[in-house]
Amino acid sequence: MSFCVLIIAVACSSLQGSQRLERAASGDTRRSRFRTATIGPAIFTASSHLALIAGASRLVSPHDHVLEIGSQLGEVTRCLADKASSVHGVDMERELQGKSGRTASFRSHSSPEEAGLTGVRFTLLDPWDTRALLQATGADEEPTFAVIDLNQIVGNDLPLEALALARQLGKTFPSLTNVIIKSGALDKLQRQLTTLPELRAEKGRAPPPSWLPRIVATRGVADYRAAALEMMGAWAAEGRQGVRVLEVGCHTGTSTAMMHARALAGGGDGYAVGVDVSHSIIERAAGLHPEVRRFGVADAWDVCALQKAMPEGESPHLLLLDVGGVSSSHGVLDALALVRLVCSTFKGTLEAVVVKSHGLHAAARALKPVGWGGATEREGS
Ligand SMILES: C[S@@+](CC[C@H](N)C(=O)[O-])C[C@H]1O[C@@H](n2cnc3c(N)ncnc32)[C@H](O)[C@@H]1O
Repeated sequence: MSFCVLIIAVACSSLQGSQRLERAASGDTRRSRFRTATIGPAIFTASSHLALIAGASRLVSPHDHVLEIGSQLGEVTRCLADKASSVHGVDMERELQGKSGRTASFRSHSSPEEAGLTGVRFTLLDPWDTRALLQATGADEEPTFAVIDLNQIVGNDLPLEALALARQLGKTFPSLTNVIIKSGALDKLQRQLTTLPELRAEKGRAPPPSWLPRIVATRGVADYRAAALEMMGAWAAEGRQGVRVLEVGCHTGTSTAMMHARALAGGGDGYAVGVDVSHSIIERAAGLHPEVRRFGVADAWDVCALQKAMPEGESPHLLLLDVGGVSSSHGVLDALALVRLVCSTFKGTLEAVVVKSHGLHAAARALKPVGWGGATEREGS
């Protein structure tokens, strides 16, 4: 009899697991009130261990079921256990300390019991393994909050990895409303990334330090052009002259011509250059806008070609990025990779990148510093 009950229970749980897997794969989103279909959970970035603990103790509520990824069964887990309804810690299985060559540290405890933690479950698994994560987290305790220590699981601090993992968790668990991720690299990106309304209001996040280019994520061509003009308008108001603009993915040159006119109006030999991957399109652009300083053929991913497209020895202050593949909502990681590439290529002069990317725009809205006002402020954003 008890054997039958066990078989039925196992069958039910594996059915629930596969239903949840299908639901996650199909993008079914039983969203709670803090997340939206486009931006997913709020992603709070913490640049340090202390910021992570302070953020967790402020943002986690007694109703939350917390999934702690890269759990050390230490201070952070204890703080979460004090605040939340339940905590499920997961961590990678590691062999010997230092053997893998990764910088991730090892837990001083192997189980919650040994650490003296109550109300905490712990599983060894690979957090990139969605199936294992879904199977380990019970359907009755779907996580509402995730806390990630990126360094523990990746062994390094990489913004693309950090964003990819946070997004993957958001897709896997529709119940997830908030994620705190300890990653200095993602925190830095969060400070650079903004949207046109935020740029106009300069609210929501502090401007990046002057040595980091600002990244303005936009949706649609009107938003893209308005953001570029906003940036140039702000510089003109400061009396800046000689502003150099490069548009990558200029098509027939309408935006490049607009920027060129604005740069000329600013004085001091300002200009715009447009490049596109298509020869025939560039011929049309040059025919339509002979006043523009220069049009050239270049692939966005070919940094040498981008450098050559600029007049000898010159490098842009403002870069506009509008190329196929990065503008959709699925192109967020490509968009970010390309933005990082151009930022490195034109380091020293580049002050702002305006990029047309639905995905990066959603990420800009999802990412907040952990010290920011809190989850409830996201409503209606
Ligand atoms: C939406 S259109 C650009 C519109 C233009 N920015 C404007 O504001 O009028 C996208 C352009 O990106 C170009 N493109 C696509 N992939 C590219 C790549 N890898 N490098 C450079 N240009 C690319 C296409 O040829 C196309 O002309």
